[in-house]
Amino acid sequence: MPTPESQCLSPTEKQINIAPSVMCADLCNLETEIRELEESGISLLHFDLMDAHFVPNMPIGLALIEQLRNKTECAFDIHLMVENNDFFVSAVADIGVEQIAVHVESATHLDRTLSVIQGHGIKAGVALNPATPLSAIEYVIDRLDFVLIMTVNPGFAGQKLVPATLRKISDCRAFLKERDVNMPIEVDGNVSFENIPKMVAAGADILVGGSSSVFNKAGSRIDNIQKIHQSISLGLAERGA
Ligand code: DX5
Ligand code: ZN
Repeated sequence: MPTPESQCLSPTEKQINIAPSVMCADLCNLETEIRELEESGISLLHFDLMDAHFVPNMPIGLALIEQLRNKTECAFDIHLMVENNDFFVSAVADIGVEQIAVHVESATHLDRTLSVIQGHGIKAGVALNPATPLSAIEYVIDRLDFVLIMTVNPGFAGQKLVPATLRKISDCRAFLKERDVNMPIEVDGNVSFENIPKMVAAGADILVGGSSSVFNKAGSRIDNIQKIHQSISLGLAERGA
């Protein structure tokens, strides 16, 4: 079982990072949940902030992230699914987070918002809905630290992968390579034991583990994370790592 430090954000060490999606955890026992994840080697937590406008849901809020900040050493990976990106960027920046992804579909002034995130010393990412083409990031690549490929339509856990997004992951890796850019690709949505090998082989570096893997009801957290590492190894073998 890799120790927390062996999980890193950069794809160059051929390490794949697992980011459990906190909205899929038992929200009434979060401290215990996070302790278990830390003991399983997790060092990055994925928080889905939704405003019930951009997507019709709101599983967690700012206060929860703020309170958890003092309860764990894990880095925080924030996924904004909101209309007012700039408000939520400044709100979470004050809490202390590792990276923030904003949806290109809701970003009125994307270049400026990404610059504000990086100005806080926080890694900036763009999240792309399944139907959104990679061309959407063409003119902001130099403002990016990572790309978040949504493999389901955003807003809810427990959905099935949109099949075309597997091709989109490899297309994204090729798109970045053509521009001589080597930044992490994060994937989010139905990151299951079965889908992980295909996602990793296609070029995914950060896996958002939700209801079909980390929080899969058929196993314990530690067993599920073991299974994820096995799935990652299959994907890396296929990638020729
Ligand atoms: C959905 C969120 C995901 C979600 C993943 O909009 O961005 O992080 O929690 O849940 P699963 O893995 O069940 O699709
Ligand atoms: Zn997410």
